[in-house]
Amino acid sequence: MHAQRRPFVGGNWKMNSDLASGVELTDAVLASLAEGGLEGRIDAAVFPPFPYLFTVGRTLGHSNVLLGGQDCSAEASGAFTGQVSVGMLADVGCRSVIIGHSERRHGLGEDDELLHEKLAIASEAGLVAVLCVGETLSERDDGRAEAVVAHQMRGCFGTLKPETVDRVVVAYEPVWAIGTGRTASPEDAQRMHSSIRAVLGQLYDSRFAAKARVIYGGSVNAKNARAIFDQPDVDGGLIGGASLKADDFASICRAAAEAWTASGGH
Ligand code: PGA
Repeated sequence: MHAQRRPFVGGNWKMNSDLASGVELTDAVLASLAEGGLEGRIDAAVFPPFPYLFTVGRTLGHSNVLLGGQDCSAEASGAFTGQVSVGMLADVGCRSVIIGHSERRHGLGEDDELLHEKLAIASEAGLVAVLCVGETLSERDDGRAEAVVAHQMRGCFGTLKPETVDRVVVAYEPVWAIGTGRTASPEDAQRMHSSIRAVLGQLYDSRFAAKARVIYGGSVNAKNARAIFDQPDVDGGLIGGASLKADDFASICRAAAEAWTASGGH
């Protein structure tokens, strides 16, 4: 963590939960965050499945926890069966959206060109876009991890103006670490986060790069979170499996808050 950047911890529920358990989980997350005095100390967000957004948003009420969508359309409206626009997300109370999760890049073939459009429309709508980047295992084994991620960053940001993307959160999620129980070592994460920040500096400027949050995702849990968050260029996490248990999610939020305090942030 770095004192200058407030931590961001997002819970990506993926295609899990049902309506009742989603509401229960939201209530439990709010209770755990309140109990730990954590709400307000970090930016926490939950990303439930689309059909539950409205109800989960109502459950969140006036809390500081951000509601977010797991994806959005690159189009504003029209004949796009099955897609959800950024306007619709905002309409049901979303303030954030995940873009380019590897399960969409690799599972559904979304490419940087499409993700650039999504990043543009989400940012223009005022949503905090959580843009995911990350290499596969074979790309890492070939020694190309940093080049692959830099290429994804350039493709996704393209020519977007700094004022358009000034609230973006970049999520580094090595594909081989997602849902596998294998995490990047804190040192590997730090190396990649620092490289991502350098690319942001080239795309924009050093001030932009110093302000932008770069979070880590991939098998983060209550036990390993603190060591990862203690790295100077890691500003929080995108949490899958462990976000489905309120206590674990709150412990990860606590690890972020404590790592931030230890770095001098408040
Ligand atoms: P995981 O998922 O924590 O279950 O590995 C992270 C993510 O996909 O965002």
